[in-house]
Amino acid sequence: MTDVEVVATVEGLRSRLEAERAAGRQVGLVPTMGFLHAGHASLIDAAVAGNNVTVVSVFVNPLQFAPDEDLADYPRDPEADMDVCGRHGADLVFAPSVAQMYPEPGVPEIEVGDLASRFEGASRPTHFGGVAMAVSRLFDIVGTSRAYFGEKDFQQLAVVRQMVADHGVPVEVVGCPTVREHDGLALSSRNAYLTAAERREAPVLRRALLAGTAAVAGGEADPGAVASLMAEVIGGATTGELDYAAVIDPDTFEAPPRITRAGVRLLVACRFGRARLIDNMAAVPT
Ligand code: PAF
Repeated sequence: MTDVEVVATVEGLRSRLEAERAAGRQVGLVPTMGFLHAGHASLIDAAVAGNNVTVVSVFVNPLQFAPDEDLADYPRDPEADMDVCGRHGADLVFAPSVAQMYPEPGVPEIEVGDLASRFEGASRPTHFGGVAMAVSRLFDIVGTSRAYFGEKDFQQLAVVRQMVADHGVPVEVVGCPTVREHDGLALSSRNAYLTAAERREAPVLRRALLAGTAAVAGGEADPGAVASLMAEVIGGATTGELDYAAVIDPDTFEAPPRITRAGVRLLVACRFGRARLIDNMAAVPT
């Protein structure tokens, strides 16, 4: 357990990290919206293991919620968050206000490109623009660093990598494996919205992904057939509303002609009442 220092201003964080870097220390950043769970903790562990100073940002970013989404209800627990950060060895928590993050009204939008228009971007058209705004601002404030993101939000990870490459941002983006409950449900702050009955059904997402990987292992190379199989598994076992079940090339997020290489990814998204859950898996385990 370390004592975690909380910094609420951009200026405070910048000067603190400049001193660290001047002393030759490597900075790790874990961007979060708080309500930290074991998935976030695994990102903090990776950052602590790979860097000298770890900053966890806690900021519920209003720009990535559409007007009809759950910004007002988004779960928050600042005390528990501090506890997780301390127990996992983070050094600093950056908890800015909206005014600190976005001081100028009408800040220019970040171009997120084609990757961001599909799947999550199609269901939530303003989402990745908002994520890109928060992440690029954090990268600008924190400066040269390594930043840790969960693979659970596979498309977000791809959009962030693309943004860093397009704009020559001096941040190394590190993707970390999804952390799951004992029954396979991927950890997500939004799991808190599930009723007991929905919680029992939600692991079907992972079962669908496993059915997809099993089909590929058995020789199925047609992306359409694998996507239909995943949709059937979900449709057959839940009252949840399937949003998509897809097989994608991770570079383009388009369907590959055939499932021939290890990088191909299986994606699913499903709404269970108030909770819209997503999950993904490599089509061919690595
Ligand atoms: O994954 C999240 O929690 C958020 O999208 C992020 C990356 C912290 C940006 O607000």
